[in-house]
Amino acid sequence: MSNYHIKHLEEYYQVYRKSVRNPEAFWDEVAEEHFVWRKHWEKVLSYDFSKPDFKWFEGAKLNITENCIDRHLLTKGNETAIIFEPNNPDEVALHISYQELSNRVNKMANVLKSQGIRKGDRVCIYLPMIPELAVSVLACARIGAIHSVVFAGFSATALATRINDSDCKMVITSDGSYRGNKTIDLKGIVDDALRSCASVLSVLVAKRVHSKIPMIDGRDHWMQPLLDQASAKCDPEIMDAEDPLFILYTSGSTGKPKGMVHTTAGYMVYTAYTFKNVFQYKTGDIYWCTADIGWITGHSYIVYGPLANGATTVMFEGVPSYPDFGRFWQIVEKHKINQFYTAPTAIRALAKENIDFVNNYDLNSLKVLGSVGEPINEEAWHWYNENVGKRQCPIVDTWWQTETGGIMISPIPGSTPTIPTYATLPLPGIQPVLMGANGDELYENQVEGSLCIKFPWPSIARTIWGNHDRYRETYFAAYSGMYFTGDGATRDAVGNYRITGRIDDVIIVSGHNLGTAPIEDAVNEHPAVAESAIVGFPHDIKGNALYGYITLKEKGESLLQDNLRKEINQLIADRIGPIAKLDKVQFTNGLPKTRSGKIMRRILRKVACNELDNLGDTSTLLNPECVKHIIEGRL
Ligand code: WTA
Repeated sequence: MSNYHIKHLEEYYQVYRKSVRNPEAFWDEVAEEHFVWRKHWEKVLSYDFSKPDFKWFEGAKLNITENCIDRHLLTKGNETAIIFEPNNPDEVALHISYQELSNRVNKMANVLKSQGIRKGDRVCIYLPMIPELAVSVLACARIGAIHSVVFAGFSATALATRINDSDCKMVITSDGSYRGNKTIDLKGIVDDALRSCASVLSVLVAKRVHSKIPMIDGRDHWMQPLLDQASAKCDPEIMDAEDPLFILYTSGSTGKPKGMVHTTAGYMVYTAYTFKNVFQYKTGDIYWCTADIGWITGHSYIVYGPLANGATTVMFEGVPSYPDFGRFWQIVEKHKINQFYTAPTAIRALAKENIDFVNNYDLNSLKVLGSVGEPINEEAWHWYNENVGKRQCPIVDTWWQTETGGIMISPIPGSTPTIPTYATLPLPGIQPVLMGANGDELYENQVEGSLCIKFPWPSIARTIWGNHDRYRETYFAAYSGMYFTGDGATRDAVGNYRITGRIDDVIIVSGHNLGTAPIEDAVNEHPAVAESAIVGFPHDIKGNALYGYITLKEKGESLLQDNLRKEINQLIADRIGPIAKLDKVQFTNGLPKTRSGKIMRRILRKVACNELDNLGDTSTLLNPECVKHIIEGRL
C-alpha cells in the first residue's frame, strides 16, 4: 500500500481510514517521503478551531521552489516543466525545461531583490497567462516575498483595492495582453489603479504585445533588460513551514474581497499529494489545466502541485473560442495531453457548438478529464464523457475552494466509481460532515445539509490578510469546532457527496465567484439609483447569471432605461470587471423588505428563476404590494 499514490478502490479505503484514524501520522509520512526539507518539523499539527489557529509541520524549514524546481534538476533538468501555448496558434509554443525554468526563476528572483523586495514583502502580479506569470510567482516564493496574483480581467478599481488591502510594494505586469482577437492595455489599467496606491514603489513590465506605452521614470522598469543583467543563481530564502506563501483574493458575500492567506509547507504537501492522486499523473505525462493562474486552480494545479511532482504542465494564453471552437481540442492533439482539467462553463459553451469542432482532432492521448469551479450538470457531464473522453476517461469532478487550497472531494481515477454530478468521496485526510437545519451533524446517509469539514487539513487558509476576525466569523462561527464551506451538499446511500451550490450570497457566474454586495455597491454609485438587489438565475452556459432589481430616485424615466442599463453595467465593469455585469436589469418601484428593513432576496430569487408558484408567505413584508409589481415587470 502506498499512502502517496492510490491505485485502486480498496487501497483508497485503507488509506482513507488510516488518514482519519491518525491524521498526524498519515501526513507525517507523506511529508517525510516526498519532499525536501532544510529542517525537519517538531510537530505535525497543532490547532484550535475556536481561535482559529492551524499550524502544520511546525518548526520545519524549507523553500517550496527547491521542491518544485531544484530537486528535479539532476534527474530531469532537460525535461519540460512548462509548455507555453500562445493565444495565436500560428505563434510557436515554448517548451521550458526544468533547467531553463530554474534559470528564469533565479534571474527574476535576483531582479526582485535588486528592486528592494525582501522576505515578507507583498508583490502584486497582474499578468496574462505568459511564462513570466509562473516565473514571477516562483521568484517571489524563492525569496520569501508574498505573491498576490490578481486575475488580469479585473478592473483598475478592483486591482487597486487588492493592492491596497495588502500594501503591495511592487506590481509585475505587461505592456498588454492577447485574448482571442482582442488586445488589452494591461499597463494602462495598472497606471489607473496606481493613482490610488501609495505603497507601490516599482512596476516591472514584461513585453508581450509590443505596444507603445508610457513608462513613469523611477517607478516603471522594463523586465527584460533587468533579467539580462541578473545572475541565474539565487540562493533560496529558507522559510518556516508557517511563513505565508501567498495571498489570493476571493469574493465574500459582503464587504471587500477576502485576502486568503496560504502558508508554505502544508500548502505544498497537500497540493502535491492531491495532484498526484486526482490526476494519476505518471512520469512523461502531459497535463493541462485551462484555468488562469489568477485563480486558486491555477496556483495549485498549474504551478505548485504539478511542479512539485516534476510534471509537465501546460499554460494556455488564449480562450476556447479563438480562432474557433476547436481550439482546446487542437491543443490536446498538438501536445498529446494526457490529463485535461477545465470548468463546466467551458464545457457547456463548447457543447453548444458543432460536434465537428471536437471530432476533427485526435483525442486519443487523454486519460483523465477534470471539472472544477461549480457543479457540473448532468448534460454537460455526459457530453464531456462521450465526446471528449470517448467513454474511456474517468471524469474527476473536483470540489474545493480558494480557502481549502487543494482538492477536497473528488473521485480518484481508476479507483472511485464516478457518478454524474457527484464529486463522490473525500480525499485522504478530509473529513466532511453535513449539518442539518437545527445545527446538528447529520450522521445518516441520504441526507442534505450544509457542508463542513471537521478536521484540519494541511492546506487550509490560515487567515484573511489583515482581518482575522472576519476569517473566524465567515468560516468558524456558524458551527463550533469545524470549518463551514458556504456550500450545500447531499450524501447518498454509500457516502458519495453531491455539491448543490452556494448557500450564501455568493453567485458563481462562469465559474467566477461573485459576491452580490460589492456589485450592489457599484450599482448604487450611479446617481439615478436609489437601491438595488442582485440575485442569480440559471443560465445555459454560465451556470448562473445576474439579475438586478433596481429602484430609481426619480420615477418616470422609462425612456432612459436602456441607457441606464448600459451605464450601470459600465459602472460594474469599471468597479469590478466585465464578468460581474448584469444579464437582466429590472427597474421597479420598490424592493420587498422585512419589517426590520432587510431586503427579502428569497422572493427576488424566485421571481428571477420564474418560480412563481411558491413565493412563500409575503404577508409579513413591510411592503407586500411591491411583489405584484415585480412579478408583472419580470424579464
Ligand atoms: C464551487 C475554485 C460544485 C463551490 C476551486 C465552492 C464547486 C466554490 C465545485 C469555490 C465542484 C468548486 N462542484 N461546486 N466540483 N468546485 N465549486 O474559491 O460553490 O473559486 O464553494 O475555488 O466553487 O470557488 P473558488
